[in-house]
Amino acid sequence: MQTIRVETPSAKYDVFAGSGLLAELAPRIERVVRRSILAGRGQRVFVVTSPEIWALWGKKFLRSFQEAKIDAPVTLFLPPGEQHKTVKSVERLLREMVRAGGDRGSLLIAFGGGIVGDVGGFVAATFMRGINYVQVPTTFLAQVDSSVGGKVGVNLPEGKNLVGNFHQPRAVFADIGVLGTLPDRELRAGLMESVKAGFIRDRALVRFMEEHAEEILARDPKSLERVIASSIRMKADVVRKDERESGLRMILNLGHTVGHALEQATRYKAMLHGEAVAWGMVASLAVARRRGTITGGQMERMEKLIYRYGPLPKLKVTAARVIAVTGRDKKNVGGVRRFVLPVGIGDAGVVEDVTAAELEAAVKYMLVRARTAGR
Ligand SMILES: NC(=O)c1ccc[n+]([C@@H]2O[C@H](COP(=O)([O-])OP(=O)(O)OC[C@H]3O[C@@H](n4cnc5c(N)ncnc54)[C@H](O)[C@@H]3O)[C@@H](O)[C@H]2O)c1
Repeated sequence: MQTIRVETPSAKYDVFAGSGLLAELAPRIERVVRRSILAGRGQRVFVVTSPEIWALWGKKFLRSFQEAKIDAPVTLFLPPGEQHKTVKSVERLLREMVRAGGDRGSLLIAFGGGIVGDVGGFVAATFMRGINYVQVPTTFLAQVDSSVGGKVGVNLPEGKNLVGNFHQPRAVFADIGVLGTLPDRELRAGLMESVKAGFIRDRALVRFMEEHAEEILARDPKSLERVIASSIRMKADVVRKDERESGLRMILNLGHTVGHALEQATRYKAMLHGEAVAWGMVASLAVARRRGTITGGQMERMEKLIYRYGPLPKLKVTAARVIAVTGRDKKNVGGVRRFVLPVGIGDAGVVEDVTAAELEAAVKYMLVRARTAGR
């Protein structure tokens, strides 16, 4: 097991990543929050999860409470799917917590993928003006990315993640064992976040992912632990320096400018987030190559790694549509086209002056690659 410390101006906490964490969850949570989580002693504990995840892992989750002789938490369900990441779901969960006797001393456990983590975290951020919570992420993406860093929130009909807060968890427990039931496509899409982590901050991770793709994709626990821990370490390092995304944290958005546009242009139905980010990274590589921040050889190597963790979905959109949607991204403050560009392999920078011609060339390159490579 690996322990990664996250330190931000607002909180300090550990992320634990390894096999078998779920079996020891209850005593570990108790140790972290440094008080009894026995409901009988005044603290209500809630677990927000989805019915699917609970059916797969609920028994194991509860066993650690039974073995530690700790009362089972109150279970609150969030149906799966981005369509439930809403203010309405948050209101329902908050009201269920009030009715179940929750108070300012309550603890919330978010047990699921990124959606459960974002919604559960936002509920924790707003219930009684904020209560303690821990993240127990169950998808690869949630383990390496969304459970760490304290960004929580929900969508509006007008767009994704438009309502939210920064609320850091008290701890994150990433059990690699739970990834055993994750669909292959979800795993591959999540691995794109680790590819991204390597590109922007960690050359050694890039090499490891190149050399051990077979073991990683076969879910070898040691290889997964190595990739997950390095990805979390990278995110922790960035978040420590810039909790609220006023500068450095923006580099985590490599691939997001065009990635978000692809998700939006296809109404979030055609591809998973990681897959959209993967295509977005290909577009960023094209801009970087034109500007000379990466060499032709580096570009080839980076693209090869992206496709190694594919297959990526076909892109049934036109360049014009992607470009139009890119201009509406909330991260493009004041109409500026903000791009994260790789600088060599293992470094990246943010630029705000990407021209319309550069964007068009990059999107066209990406669409050509979507027809000829990546599948
Ligand atoms: N807060 C952040 O910093 C941050 C960062 C990146 C992404 N996100 C958000 O994360 C969300 C996506 O998260 P996600 O990719 O984890 O998707 P998700 O939460 O929808 O989970 C994907 C699917 O896998 C299922 N699942 C989860 N764990 C499983 C397991 N162990 N076995 C079998 N099935 C399992 C889920 O029920 C769901 O159907 C998006 O809403 C995105 O905006 C947030």
